[in-house]
Amino acid sequence: MGLISDRLNRIAPSPTVSITDMALNMKAAGRKVIGLAAGEPDFDTPQHIKDAAIAAMKAGKTKYTQVDGIPELKEAICRKFARENNVSCTADMITVSTGGKQVLFNALMASLNPSDEVIIPTPYWVSFAGIVEICEAKPVFVKGSGANPMKISAEDLEAAITPNSKWLILNSPSNPGGVGYDADDLMAFAAVMRRHPQLHLISDDIYEHLVYDDFKFTTMATITPDLQDRILTVNGVSKSYCMTGGALAMAVGQCH
Ligand SMILES: Cc1ncc(COP(=O)(O)O)c(C=O)c1O
Repeated sequence: MGLISDRLNRIAPSPTVSITDMALNMKAAGRKVIGLAAGEPDFDTPQHIKDAAIAAMKAGKTKYTQVDGIPELKEAICRKFARENNVSCTADMITVSTGGKQVLFNALMASLNPSDEVIIPTPYWVSFAGIVEICEAKPVFVKGSGANPMKISAEDLEAAITPNSKWLILNSPSNPGGVGYDADDLMAFAAVMRRHPQLHLISDDIYEHLVYDDFKFTTMATITPDLQDRILTVNGVSKSYCMTGGALAMAVGQCH
């Protein structure tokens, strides 16, 4: 009998992590490598963030804190959601964790049972499926059936829904497809959600600030106040502020 649990054996190692490790090892060996596997922005962490982190450590802020985030940080996160997303929330609706992956893991681990299904538009960030599988639930992959196969429509979503559908994970702008869902797309998804009350939404907004051309970022919580208790909005600093080694992310929601 091996040491590794069936739960862990069920998932494949993350290909992006393996390729990133390979690139880091090659760099360490002196090779010139540009790693394109991980979602690593091409700019440096802003200086004022580095300075604040150093100042905090010098001030002795290196001890245990509230596990789901210190109150000042939760207040600052509420201000971010109000200012940038027009989503009003209170600190008790916020949870902070060590990166977006951890926030997603916590949310899915806390909510999924073995018969539950999670709808994941393709192409998808590999960890979505891995986390669902580790939670012993079933990932249901949905491919766009229209002109752009990287983008699903409301009809594609509705066709994938069953009585067991618990979450849709929508990542916009998306990794790896680069697809963005605009307000009209989101309104169409919201209409589908209203017809299927068992379905909740994880809106993975981690790439909110990495948008190009005239695409206007919108998140579901902004435009569907009536669905607030079925939406978990996930965001973080790893991509927007290039703090991929800093590992801090948050979620806001009142799902039940
Ligand atoms: C779509 C998506 N969501 C979440 C994350 C997790 O980000 P973090 O580095 O904060 O764990 C990533 C990281 O690559 C990602 O691509």
